[in-house]
Amino acid sequence: MGTLNIEELLNQMTIEEKASLCSGADFWHTEAIERLGLPAAMLSDGPHGLRKQDKTADHLGTGESIKAVCFPTASAMACSFDRELIYNVGSALGEECQAENVNVLLGPGINMKRSPLCGRNFEYYSEDPCLAGELGAAFVNGVQSQGAGTSLKHFAANSQEWRRMSISSEVDERTLREIYLAAFEKTVKKAQPWTIMCSYNKINGTYSCENDWLLNKVLRDEWGFEGLVMTDWGAMNNRIEALKAGLDLEMPSSHGETDKLITAAVKDGSLPAEVLDKAVKRVLELVDKSITNKRHASYNKEEHHSLVKKTAINSAVLLKNNGVLPLSGNENIAIIGQFADIPRIQGGGSSHINCFKTESALQALGNAVNAKYTYSQGYATDKDETGTVLLEEALQNAAAADVAVIFAGLPESFESEGFDRTHLNMPECQNHLIEEIYKVQKNIVIVLHNGSPVAMPWLDKAGAVLEMYLAGQASGAAAVDLLFGRANPSGKLAETFPLRLEDNPSYLNFPGSRDKVRYSEGVFIGYRYYDKKHMDVLFPFGYGLSYTTFRYSNLRIETGGVVANNCPGTIPKIQDTDQVKVYVDITNTGNRAGAEIVQLYVKNFIGLENRPEKELKNFAKVFLEPGETKTACMELDFRSFAYFNETLKDWFAESGTYGILIGASSRDIKLSREVKITASKKIPFHACDTTTCKDVELFADSTKPLDEMLLMIKNGNEADNEKALCIMKTAFEETPIHSILSFSSNALKYEDIKETLKKLNGTVS
Ligand code: BGC
Repeated sequence: MGTLNIEELLNQMTIEEKASLCSGADFWHTEAIERLGLPAAMLSDGPHGLRKQDKTADHLGTGESIKAVCFPTASAMACSFDRELIYNVGSALGEECQAENVNVLLGPGINMKRSPLCGRNFEYYSEDPCLAGELGAAFVNGVQSQGAGTSLKHFAANSQEWRRMSISSEVDERTLREIYLAAFEKTVKKAQPWTIMCSYNKINGTYSCENDWLLNKVLRDEWGFEGLVMTDWGAMNNRIEALKAGLDLEMPSSHGETDKLITAAVKDGSLPAEVLDKAVKRVLELVDKSITNKRHASYNKEEHHSLVKKTAINSAVLLKNNGVLPLSGNENIAIIGQFADIPRIQGGGSSHINCFKTESALQALGNAVNAKYTYSQGYATDKDETGTVLLEEALQNAAAADVAVIFAGLPESFESEGFDRTHLNMPECQNHLIEEIYKVQKNIVIVLHNGSPVAMPWLDKAGAVLEMYLAGQASGAAAVDLLFGRANPSGKLAETFPLRLEDNPSYLNFPGSRDKVRYSEGVFIGYRYYDKKHMDVLFPFGYGLSYTTFRYSNLRIETGGVVANNCPGTIPKIQDTDQVKVYVDITNTGNRAGAEIVQLYVKNFIGLENRPEKELKNFAKVFLEPGETKTACMELDFRSFAYFNETLKDWFAESGTYGILIGASSRDIKLSREVKITASKKIPFHACDTTTCKDVELFADSTKPLDEMLLMIKNGNEADNEKALCIMKTAFEETPIHSILSFSSNALKYEDIKETLKKLNGTVS
């Protein structure tokens, strides 16, 4: 039950008042109407902390905001593959919103990582829509469980910063549906965010904010989105077209300018009053939800700091380990690198949080058990230059130690909202430092702070590499716990680290020309591309090590409550609409507690459509004591097997064999099983002159009419019709029906062709 009488308010409002609600009152508030007792709602960035601005207003992250808690960024959190953890982060942020009177947190960002260069990748989860959608839904549900709203962003196909306010993302519908919209669809269906934020860019020539297909048809009619759609800050183009397309709220304030346009358009009849009413109603519903769900809350900053640490620990990815980690604590350790003292914990731009405190590795080491260590800064982050004094000091300390732990990565100037990277390199001074240290100390551990993949020219020299990403304000404390084995790394990569930038599928078309960027790689983004081309990568999607080991066993498939016969060679048969449950046992075979991320990929063996080798369709994170076994259960449904068929304009899972692959990473499949799917949908088939014989074979109800026609031109042994037919069908596979005439040695007339087509189309029997 709401608080406001929305129908009554709508009745009482003048057109001018209605129009005023369609744009912000200022940078962060919706418009209030005092005369009617209607308050404003407050919106604040987001996503991995609260950036509430009390006194200033900017969307660049430069102005002051209140002291808050900085959680790990999305690129880090995604590596946890942990829905519950991300729900808890969302819930903590919801609490902060309530305490600070913020009604909507502007996040999460769930755009796909098309290129590792996108400057804002740190704010996005993954290159995989299943992972991004599941985690996006968990985050939204968490925030909204506290009675605060979210704004799912940036809708859609906004995977670069370069010309982000004007570029047109040129993407075919199948690719949009399967990759760039899929995470939004999942999140909307699983979590109903209060609002969605439209991206700046155009999609196939139409601004997202004015895209009737995107907002009215797909988002609302198809997916059932019930909330409000707002612009990204300053993304409005044509206010009237946007309203018609389903864009409710323009942010920030237009200072009354576009409100005047709306009023005039309703008055001159070019904008139907009902269209305006719909948008106003959604603004009123948002304000109503804000009032109705308001709680007088406070939150414990230190508790949230602990949650930051827990999240950072569970998200870190151990990329390499020759046994040097975990450290015993008895070594002489040379801690090297400025990030050990001043960690890079978040990205630049609108998501920038004013942390109430930061815990660096050096601070955390001070509290650690008996660790004997020296610290040398090694490099500076404000310029990419090797400082002789800094280098000398680092070399001396490294030489005198048992192990060098080098904190390295990308300074803020290398990646941020507002621009894309042009290469994957870390600062040259840091790479050089690592090479030099190796000359005096062979035992090297690298701890990385970066928002997105980097090249690692020194990888073979490192004994261990711990990828922390941008892990929030407790990043140093988390790193120290992981280094000393007080916690066991359990994150896995939510994106591929390529060997070279040039290997990336978007390489030839990123960031595009002046006004267009073609997503010419189609659905082959990230591992979907590298797998299809059997390419080596630096680290694959879903990869990450642990201090313990796991065994995978006993893969079972259940449909309709019945577990399929597990005998080798038996293939379970499934209707495409059946709910499928996949079970697998995971055992911790080492001597430390740890968590394993189990990944379920589906492979299509049919090959009618050009599909990826395999696609992630579910995952589970299993926490295990040494020796313990638990069963991971993962569900699949129709969409797990389907692709978007452009002829049907719908999802379609063709009949045939599919693989259920259980992996420890996308390149480490432990167990697999085949299932046979029967399709419930049919691709409409109409035979015409140019239909090929193969298409008849694949799509017609019966091939009999074609078989009969082929037999008319058969020559040779009369008795062996079947063999002859088989040979002819193979020979004519790619031949259009009317062209068979040319090869029929006069045995066929054009009338026979016409007759066959009629029979195939069912007009005569
Ligand atoms: C960003 C959004 C952000 C908004 C408000 C825009 O520039 O793209 O993600 O929420 O500013 O700061």
